[in-house]
Amino acid sequence: MMNPSGLTELVESKKFLFFGGKGGVGKTTMASATATWLADHGYKTLIVATDPTVSLSAIYEQDIGETDLTVIEGQQNLCGLNINPKKAMGVFQSRMNDMMEGFSTLFGSELLSTPCTEEIAAFDQFVSHMADTEHDKVVFDTAPTGHTLRELSMPFDWSGYIANQIESRKELSELMGFVYDENMINDLRKEKERYDAAVRALSDRSISAFNLVLLPEKLPVDETERAVEDLGTFGIKVPGLIINEVIPREVLQGNWFLERRRATQDKYLAIIEEKFKDMIRQEVPLFETDIYGVENLRKVGKVLYG
Ligand SMILES: Nc1ncnc2c1ncn2[C@@H]1O[C@H](COP(=O)(O)OP(=O)(O)O)[C@@H](O)[C@H]1O
Ligand SMILES: [Mg+2]
Repeated sequence: MMNPSGLTELVESKKFLFFGGKGGVGKTTMASATATWLADHGYKTLIVATDPTVSLSAIYEQDIGETDLTVIEGQQNLCGLNINPKKAMGVFQSRMNDMMEGFSTLFGSELLSTPCTEEIAAFDQFVSHMADTEHDKVVFDTAPTGHTLRELSMPFDWSGYIANQIESRKELSELMGFVYDENMINDLRKEKERYDAAVRALSDRSISAFNLVLLPEKLPVDETERAVEDLGTFGIKVPGLIINEVIPREVLQGNWFLERRRATQDKYLAIIEEKFKDMIRQEVPLFETDIYGVENLRKVGKVLYG
């Protein structure tokens, strides 16, 4: 099948491939189909899921490890990793906890709120795989949202503020029994650098492609528009959109219900074309079954990349 959209060139020319979007729109499906296609085409590929569910294991019909890379059976060149963000507590997170504890002893805890720890842990994992040198391609089955990135930058603002407060109230801190630890602040600074490097890599269009998956419906279209804008504030440009679950015309056959659904989709397909003119847009049909197993993934891969 022809691939007129340019998505193929995009995934072949970038190393880090992200699939973002609302829940249930097909991120894991598109990420897995992409990973399978790349592996089939000779790229040494790693697919990383940071979803707390086991969807990657379900799709590949085998247990995929939480810490060690699992070789995917029936498929050359492909490994998977299913990180459990709840368990993957990063250095940053524990440092942050220590610091917040110290700070609340000093100044009371009302002021403080730490961002969602799962988001941090998940991002921590992105960060470590953004330094990958073992694979040709790393496919992430979820992408951080602008909201996540914003939340994540908050503790660094906090940490700077806290560090200053501690410095200027060192005596008071000591008086109140808070052990001031120079290393703690240095570690936080290092983590901040690591975070910045990851955001830089995410926004580096020569190595990363940040794609969004959506359905041709009002809510996903609105959300996609917001996401594109939001990510833009972090310097992240979205090159590709995958418009999923488009009802094939050949199945309509005068069925009023399907005709009506497809007409609704057509309305949003037109809106998508208008709103996201400059992006690569690739439609994927609604399949007659759900999608799991390498054979089905190959069908999706064929639609996406030829
Ligand atoms: N084009 C499609 N045709 C049929 N079923 C699909 C299609 N895309 C996704 N699905 C099914 O929809 C469900 C949600 O997809 P999934 O990739 O898990 O979404 P997400 O990761 O965004 O939450 C899965 O059961 C998947 O098999
Ligand atoms: Mg998923």
